[in-house]
Amino acid sequence: METIIIELDENNIDSEKLEIACKTLRDGELVAFPTETVYGLGGDALNETAAARIYAAKGRPSDNPLIVHVAETEDVNRIASEVPEMAKKLMDEYWPGPLTIVFKKKDIVPDGTTGGLDTVGVRMPSNKIARELIRQSGILIAAPSANVSGRPSPTKGEHVIFDMEGKIPVIIDGGDVGIGLESTIVDVTGDIPTILRPGYITKEMIKNTCGDVSIDPAILEKPDKNLIPKAPGMKYKHYAPKADFILYSGNGENVINAIVKESKESILQGKTVAIVATDEDMDEYQEKLKNERYSNRFFVLSIGSRENEESIAHNLFAVLRKCDELGADVILGETYSDEGLGMAIMNRLVKACGYSICEV
Ligand code: TXA
Ligand code: MG
Repeated sequence: METIIIELDENNIDSEKLEIACKTLRDGELVAFPTETVYGLGGDALNETAAARIYAAKGRPSDNPLIVHVAETEDVNRIASEVPEMAKKLMDEYWPGPLTIVFKKKDIVPDGTTGGLDTVGVRMPSNKIARELIRQSGILIAAPSANVSGRPSPTKGEHVIFDMEGKIPVIIDGGDVGIGLESTIVDVTGDIPTILRPGYITKEMIKNTCGDVSIDPAILEKPDKNLIPKAPGMKYKHYAPKADFILYSGNGENVINAIVKESKESILQGKTVAIVATDEDMDEYQEKLKNERYSNRFFVLSIGSRENEESIAHNLFAVLRKCDELGADVILGETYSDEGLGMAIMNRLVKACGYSICEV
């Protein structure tokens, strides 16, 4: 299949170009588009054939439900059978923005979109291209992240082109996304809001808005048969680079020394090593590995600044993809505080490394 790539500027959207994407969606075909979190792979949420195309293009297990993207709050009433008070507060406070709310669904939403669940996740993105695409097409857009299933989520147009070119008819390239991690998912079908996936909207923020919040315990630990996450997607291997990825946790200096030691050993075994570090630590790795025996066999890549966790969120997936591009066999990474936005950062990193964490 030939893929049309449409470049759009979020601050000056060319509605004629956008119309190509809108028509594609109305025809039940797929369009990848930017949102403020990550790129989405969109299709008509109310059309089962379109939903099936999304699963096929991603290679995604069919029990893993899709999030429905809306442009107006009123659209929620078309697909949710109950909108509890806590949801209204959350929508008022955080929409448009990086928050997905799980409601009881109406019959109009096909099982093919929700993976057979009787609930539906809904989000109003703040990215102007995403919202205009929903508005101008008149379509409620089901969209998972636009990566091949299991791979790091796409945060740049080039990531989407790499994963989806030839598989879908239209990709909108709107440049780099802002946040870089997927939306927070909160379930409002129980007594209090429950976080099913951490994201930019933190548990503290939800607690402030609703007075109470709980967290699905399965997202904090490695899921097993006794601890099954409520968001079906959270149980799968996810966000994974091609290289073996190991995280190091502990006191800062111990972490650096352990990563340096492991780097040397891997390099001497003939492997190419990527060290994913913060701005603050990059020079120390370079310094400790400057011996010529190790040169050209390792890369030190910045994930952002330890002082600025938004920078880490923003760069996380792009850095993992870069490691693969550079041909790394092994990725060695540092860990971060899991407070605030750190909970989402650590959730993605821990899943990306398949829970291989080395305590030092
Ligand atoms: O930021 C985002 O949320 C991005 C952009 C494109 O909007 N989308 C995204 O979609 O991350 P996806 O499909 O990659 O992740 C959706 C997650 C999955 O873990 C899925 O299992 C969960 O949301 N989910 C969707 N609907 C659900 C529901 N009704 N109940 C529980 N979990 C749900
Ligand atoms: Mg995803």
